[in-house]
Amino acid sequence: KHNKLWGGRFDGRTDQLMESFNASISYDKRLWKADIAGSKVYSLALSKCGLISEHEQLAIHDGLSKVGEEWSEGTFQIIESDEDIHTANERRLSEVIGANIAGKLHTGRSRNDQVAVDTRLWLRDEIDKISKHVATLINNITNRAEKDVDVLFPGYTHMQRAQPIRWSHWLMSYAVNFLRQQNKLQEIRKRVNILPLGSGALAGNPFNVDRELMAKELGFDEISWNSLDATGGRDYIAEVLFWASQVSCTLSRLAEDLILYSTKEFAFVTLSDAYSTGSSLMPQKKNPDSLELIRGKAGTIIGKCTGFMVTIKGLPSTYNKDLQEDKIALFEVCDAISAVLQISAGVIETLSIDSDQMKKALSLGMLATDVAYYLVRKGVPFREAHSLSGMVVKKAETDHCEMNEIPLTDLKTISEHFDEDVVGVWNFENSVEQYQAPGGTSKSSVLDQIAKVRQNLVTH
Ligand code: ARG
Repeated sequence: KHNKLWGGRFDGRTDQLMESFNASISYDKRLWKADIAGSKVYSLALSKCGLISEHEQLAIHDGLSKVGEEWSEGTFQIIESDEDIHTANERRLSEVIGANIAGKLHTGRSRNDQVAVDTRLWLRDEIDKISKHVATLINNITNRAEKDVDVLFPGYTHMQRAQPIRWSHWLMSYAVNFLRQQNKLQEIRKRVNILPLGSGALAGNPFNVDRELMAKELGFDEISWNSLDATGGRDYIAEVLFWASQVSCTLSRLAEDLILYSTKEFAFVTLSDAYSTGSSLMPQKKNPDSLELIRGKAGTIIGKCTGFMVTIKGLPSTYNKDLQEDKIALFEVCDAISAVLQISAGVIETLSIDSDQMKKALSLGMLATDVAYYLVRKGVPFREAHSLSGMVVKKAETDHCEMNEIPLTDLKTISEHFDEDVVGVWNFENSVEQYQAPGGTSKSSVLDQIAKVRQNLVTH
């Protein structure tokens, strides 16, 4: 006889390669805990509507606990006919408590609503773990930003020296981004935390199981509204994949900045040994492999997201086996983003900075905007001030000197508004302290950003 749970209408055996091609147990065994939790609650709902006796419910419950113990102790034996985690657990349950009782568990249920509830349960916990990794990363960034708040360095646009900024302002640009991502993740969690169980294969549940009870028991916020949507929809997975893609892009950008800052040419930062590796050929090398892998993983994650979007693009309504591919993408992306977040947090926490080198990299040319603002404060319209400041830059260039070496008398020939107090412009600290408006690079604004981020961070 056919050894499959669905084997009744079959005569012929499954092709050998088809058997392994069809199976998902090698990876969906990660859902074992969720699968057992879902089945326990389903058995409760079955007993509540009188489909199984209290005694049978207890037997199923205890049998499932026993199966769960085997998984957690690593003694669960997967056999060849175990197609996926659902069939494996049910097969084992009937060995433990007998097929007569175990055979009632799947009444009115389908693997279609089962896999959906398992995945949502697993993902909900995973989101909580990932959210904590985001919190740790944000904490490490804000702590560092607070500690290093007096350090100035060059801000770049187009990779060209632009204006002096606080190093902490650069750091906080990432903290603010990651906080926003954490908010988004909490939003996604709400859409993940919806109970699909009780949707059957597609049409719903014919025994009027108490879905609200199951939702409550499993900690779901809500029950799904439509059984076709509940069994065939995977947009919550796509959302997580896209979320991870976005976060990995930001982390890649952070990594790229730090790779550059850690070159001998910049020498702003040094990665700790814990996050660097050497060369098998060149003894002097200390390579930022951690950062390069963070940058590299973004490609892998985006690829998984894109791949899954392509998978769901052509699907008709309801469950189709293509959807089994969702977990391959989901598991790999969750693992990758978790790793990348933790490594990034470690890199930020342990890297050292060379504030003298950062200061040295500031050049007086970066104060040209400040020269214009100096004139603006004397009543010169900005457009005119911009062009006058350009003339000062040009003068320094032709005289082969710095702007602050141009004698006041020469400055006065460019504009009569230049005066003794122009010396105040040649000061990087003064320059950054102008940016007092919220969101700017002044000390008070950066400290304000740190406080705001800490206030809004979700740490549980
Ligand atoms: N292993 C399957 C999956 O991951 C479970 C659902 C199977 N449903 C079915 N009708 N074959 O999607």
